[in-house]
Amino acid sequence: MAPQTAYDRAVDVLRQNDRGTYTVPTKGLYPFQWNWDSCLTALGQRHVDEARAWTEIETLFAHQWEDGMVPHIVFHVESDQYFPGPDVWGTNRPTIATSGITQPPVAGFAAKRIFDGATDRGLAEERARCLLPKIDAWHKWFFANRDPHGEGLVAILHPWESGRDNSIDWDAALDRVPTEGVGEYTRRDTQHADPAHRPTKAQYDRYLWLVQRFRGLDWDCSKLHDASPFQVVDPGFNAILIRSCTDLADLAEALGETAIAADNRARAKKGLAAMEGLWSEPHGQYLCRDRTINALIDSASIGGILAAFAAIPAERGRAIARTIERLSQSVTFSVPSHDPTDSRFDAPRYWRGPVWLVTNYMIADGMAAAGETVVAQLIVDSSLELIEKSGFAEYYDPISGAPCGGGDFTWTAAMVIEFLTAS
Ligand code: DGY
Repeated sequence: MAPQTAYDRAVDVLRQNDRGTYTVPTKGLYPFQWNWDSCLTALGQRHVDEARAWTEIETLFAHQWEDGMVPHIVFHVESDQYFPGPDVWGTNRPTIATSGITQPPVAGFAAKRIFDGATDRGLAEERARCLLPKIDAWHKWFFANRDPHGEGLVAILHPWESGRDNSIDWDAALDRVPTEGVGEYTRRDTQHADPAHRPTKAQYDRYLWLVQRFRGLDWDCSKLHDASPFQVVDPGFNAILIRSCTDLADLAEALGETAIAADNRARAKKGLAAMEGLWSEPHGQYLCRDRTINALIDSASIGGILAAFAAIPAERGRAIARTIERLSQSVTFSVPSHDPTDSRFDAPRYWRGPVWLVTNYMIADGMAAAGETVVAQLIVDSSLELIEKSGFAEYYDPISGAPCGGGDFTWTAAMVIEFLTAS
């Protein structure tokens, strides 16, 4: 029998993790639906079954909160395999339990990409038209609840919201989060994955303290920002939001929804202008800003490179391309999630060094749009080499290429399908 192609193996991973109307990131470690995982997964699914791709995003939005927030986890089933589960979150919403924080808003981008590439135009129009006001409500929620002074950029209030849970970006801000009252708990993640690939206990204590703080406010999103000792403006997160606003505006125009188009166009414009305040000339990339002390965070992580996913100025795109080329001199596989020349870099530990195919996908997209085709191709080549060497891992050591975290990972497979069908 002929060996399976990378494309076929990727489709197999999507099938294995498909739970009918949503897809788990991987079995065991992540047994529920995660927000940005699902939206990026839908990009892979569209090549196999367009209707199923729309369903993936719709299932997530069926659990949108009344105020517009879209939670980062939907606990569709009971499972003792994951911690913290619904009892710890205690969000007490009428439908299926969810977490009470959000995640990078890739839905607007994903919906437009699925719409643009759809072969069934009637289906795409129908499904996109239903999603449009829901995604718009989420965007509106961000600026109402996470940008209280109208800066044009939103803050994350928990490292889990960034998706880059243990990035070096959060270290100093997390140090100011107390741990009193957190109590004893048993982590499940370190039973599924190597503890050397995961966040530390000191970080988990603070993650849980923040959850308890917000739970104490009954998850009233209008109160969380000012009550949180952790408020960070992440360029990667904001670039995703800006890109999704632009893409949602395009989608709304295509569907004749001019008010939604105008609102999202205005959000993107203001956000892009404000991003300039995060630029660091010495690092050749954007940096996070700690809103509680109003200072840039001296941490050259992938968040400031991921900013190229938005339509940043051409000279910023060029500088980021040169930064990626420089980083690639210190690793075998691009793009590492942190600068390897920084003493805090940790090659296999989650977001402190490893390569992730989702960030590679978004950065390659931004580089291609900026005309940096050589850098874009370098990133795609690294991604596909990693698959051949180490399979569909959650993430990879950028020096050895070893697989890290969970295996048979859904969004890794989805990104491979996208890379292989792009040309
Ligand atoms: C985890 O549990 O590792 C997740 O990243 C939190 O969403």
